[in-house]
Amino acid sequence: MSSPQKASVGFVTLVSVVAAIGGLLFGYDTAVISGATPFMQVKFDLGPGMIGWAVSCLMVGAIIGAGFAGTLSDRFGRKKMLVAAAILFSIGSVGSALASTIAEFVVARIIGGVGIGVSSTLVPLYIAEIAPTKHRGRLVSLNQLAVVIGISAIYFVNRMVVNAGTHTWDVNTGWRWMFGLGVVPGIIFMALLFTVPESPRWLEKQGKSEVAQRILQRVNGTEAAMAEIAEIRHSLKAETGTIAHLFKPGFRIALLVGVIIAILQQVTGINAIMYYAPEIFKQTGAGTNSTMTETIIVGLVNLVFTLVSLWLIDKVGRKVLLLIGSAVMAISLFIIGYAFHSGHTGTLVLILILLFVAAFAVSFGPIVWLIIAEIFPTRVRGRATAVASVALWAADYLVSQMFPILLNGAGAATTFWVFCLMSAFSFCFTLWVVPETKGKSLEQIEQSWSAANEPTFTS
Ligand code: GLC
Repeated sequence: MSSPQKASVGFVTLVSVVAAIGGLLFGYDTAVISGATPFMQVKFDLGPGMIGWAVSCLMVGAIIGAGFAGTLSDRFGRKKMLVAAAILFSIGSVGSALASTIAEFVVARIIGGVGIGVSSTLVPLYIAEIAPTKHRGRLVSLNQLAVVIGISAIYFVNRMVVNAGTHTWDVNTGWRWMFGLGVVPGIIFMALLFTVPESPRWLEKQGKSEVAQRILQRVNGTEAAMAEIAEIRHSLKAETGTIAHLFKPGFRIALLVGVIIAILQQVTGINAIMYYAPEIFKQTGAGTNSTMTETIIVGLVNLVFTLVSLWLIDKVGRKVLLLIGSAVMAISLFIIGYAFHSGHTGTLVLILILLFVAAFAVSFGPIVWLIIAEIFPTRVRGRATAVASVALWAADYLVSQMFPILLNGAGAATTFWVFCLMSAFSFCFTLWVVPETKGKSLEQIEQSWSAANEPTFTS
């Protein structure tokens, strides 16, 4: 027998960073459209309906990708599916850049979207399955950090591309670069994935115990790995492996929590800001240049507070952060609504939006992706996480379609008050239903969903 191995946080951090590049692609691809649409509108002579479709077709792809990611990753493994996601993303980037008609563009975006749906579901799950309990929150949230870096990076790329040429160049060529450059992180992601191991929990489920054990030893050290593998085996034995397992008393609460917090992450309005920030700032009376700068500030605040969350998540826990975050989100949204209602907009709205984004970044941003990756049993984790992820993308689709309509129809005040109401509901839902998962192994979380813990909602 080989000599005992020490735990290596460095190794698992590197593996998580590689996986998190998937998050970078997610952030890049969802935000890239905001800079490109003004030029595509001229190039392809698009009406409002077609612009809406050019923006939201990515999410249709993501819903499809998230849906398939579950079953396929439970069958073929997490790693292979991540490679597939990188390939789809790269095809999508090149295809969008080279499109000569809007129909070709939409097809390419849907293909890229499928890749995003797959990676958004599987990156958090893969990291959760390999990370040591103590650092799991932080490591999984590297994915969200990468999403936010991707969003901020594309705000800069868009601005640089626009500054590089004349208006005619932007209309004919500039926007193509915005999409096409995505192929660089896409290929890097694909190449680096070959250097990381498969998920040890998935390997154990496949009966590849020895390999699983070797990986866990590298992550946790020999002694802790032995205990962990015993725990994983014990849990796997208790699982049926069919999706019906999730409807058993106890586990159905896990499904409810996963799906509802995924929807809440979106209906509290973050992407109204991420995708439409310049439009909102215009309504406060800002000129084009300052709306671009304000949008970049939004991206940076998102980034800084995601880092704060990473620092706190395994210390103070998920639930406290979710509670503080949703409370601050609700308060800031309420005042934003009031500011629009009473006409006192300007800098006040910018500050409140930054407060909202900061509160989201420490709470619902990273923690939702974390919780949906950690609360389900191993045998069905892929499929169950996918159900929550599909719900998240569908809610994203709905909000990004509805936001301009609400803004123009019901007005800014009412729109933000709707988001405020959703944040208040998020606070209550977290307080009463969401469990704390900090410091528990995935198997301990699984055991905590026993029928005895199912709330009856009568008392
Ligand atoms: C989360 C959301 C995503 C949003 C991002 C903003 O990752 O899932 O929709 O754009 O946070 O930081």
